[in-house]
Amino acid sequence: MEQELQARAAHLAGIREKAEVEMARMGIDAAFIDRLVDTFYGRVQAHSRLGPVFDGRLAGRWPDHMEKMKRFWSSVAFKNGAYGGKPVQAHLGVEGMAAELFPEWLALFSQTLADIAPSAEAKDWFMATAERIAKSLTLSLFYNPALDDPARKTV
Ligand code: HEM
Repeated sequence: MEQELQARAAHLAGIREKAEVEMARMGIDAAFIDRLVDTFYGRVQAHSRLGPVFDGRLAGRWPDHMEKMKRFWSSVAFKNGAYGGKPVQAHLGVEGMAAELFPEWLALFSQTLADIAPSAEAKDWFMATAERIAKSLTLSLFYNPALDDPARKTV
C-alpha cells in the first residue's frame, strides 16, 4: 500500500515535471498566467456584449473570480491540481449567456494572446485549449439532441 502510494506520487510528480518543462519551452510561467488572466478579464469587463453578462453574475466578486481563473489556467498548464471546481455548473443560469457569445470570448482571448503571449507556440497552446473547453462547455450548456434527430427534420 505504502509502495503503491509512493509510486503514484512519483508518477504525478513526473507528469507535473513534464508539463512544467513543456510550458517553460513556450515561455509560459506562473507570472504570465497572472498577466493573461488580469489582461483578458480587464478586456472582458470593457467588452460591450461580454462585459454585462459577466458583470451581472460577478459584480462585487471579481477579485475571487480572477484568483479562481489563475488557479484554473495554472492547473491546466502545469497539471498541479490548483483548481478543483465544476466549470459546467458554474455557467448554468448565467443571465444573458448565449452560444453566440463563445466566438466573441474566443476572439477576445485570441487578440489578448496576440498582444501579450511570450511565443507563437504559447498562443497556439492557449487557443487550442480554450477552443476545446469552449466546445465542451457549449455542448453541455446548449446541445439539444432533438435538433439532431432526422425524424424531426422538416427539410
Ligand atoms: C461566452 C463565454 C463565457 C461566459 C459568458 C462565461 C461566464 C462566466 C461567469 C459569469 C463565471 C462566474 C460563475 C460564478 O462564479 O458564479 C464563469 C466562471 C468560469 N468560467 Fe466562464 N464564461 C465563458 C466562457 C468560458 C470559457 C471558454 C472557459 C474556459 C476556457 C471558461 C472557464 C470558466 C471557469 C473555469 C470558471 C470558474 C468556475 C468555478 O466556479 O469553479 N469560461 N464564467
